[in-house]
Amino acid sequence: MKLLKAVATALAFCAAFSSAQARTLDEVKKDGKILIATEGQFAPFNFFNGTTLTGFEVETAELVAKKMGLTIQWKTLGFDALLTGLRQDRWDLVIASHGITDERAKAVTFTDPHYCSGGMIIAMDPAIKSAKDLAGKVVAVQTGTSYLENVQKVSSIKEMKNFPTDVDARSALNSRRVDAWVTDRFVAKAVAEKNPGAGFKLGDMLFIERIAAAVAKGNTSLAAGWNKALAEVMADGSYAALSKKYFNEDVRCQ
Ligand code: ARG
Repeated sequence: MKLLKAVATALAFCAAFSSAQARTLDEVKKDGKILIATEGQFAPFNFFNGTTLTGFEVETAELVAKKMGLTIQWKTLGFDALLTGLRQDRWDLVIASHGITDERAKAVTFTDPHYCSGGMIIAMDPAIKSAKDLAGKVVAVQTGTSYLENVQKVSSIKEMKNFPTDVDARSALNSRRVDAWVTDRFVAKAVAEKNPGAGFKLGDMLFIERIAAAVAKGNTSLAAGWNKALAEVMADGSYAALSKKYFNEDVRCQ
């Protein structure tokens, strides 16, 4: 009897956790709030200005959510945990500059892209500009990123160093602990502009990518609702104005 009870409790426990289901568009709308996770350490896309979470994609998400009739409840946490949490239905959507890759698309459903960009090589030594210049060099990247994957493909490098945040990877270059850093081209541009005396030299793009938000795998209603609202902000001039404010150009995918 005791055993039976234990088994029943265990089963109930499993059911409670495995039945966690991604919320559909209707369910989210009914609640009026969408729970969105981001990192908050990737300026100018998602970052903290003092205690306020802001950035191009934070503000883009605010525009999109408003069109959907929703308010956003933000959650910030380590980049590595974002897509995993989506699989556990701990939040409805992730927006953190994720490039659409086949590997990630196996685990989550991507929305339409909200900007196009790519990984750029940054160094202090002006002789390090292209992929071939990385031969024999130590390169810094943020863990879990598409930069890591693409730097790994450059077989001639001496070593790739992983950092928990992109800011840490940048610091490693700044203090000359590494020879180069690979990050988003707009992140690189902003860093170079903000620190004109620091000596960051922008090199070539290593690869290009389309950046999108993600929802739980198969949550097509929420993705469709997001895509419709995104298309609207891209058509009504509000996305264009935001893009101009941050980048002085329109960063949507052409
Ligand atoms: N675009 C890169 C990727 O897809 C880097 C994203 C980094 N985002 C961040 N919030 N740190 O992996």
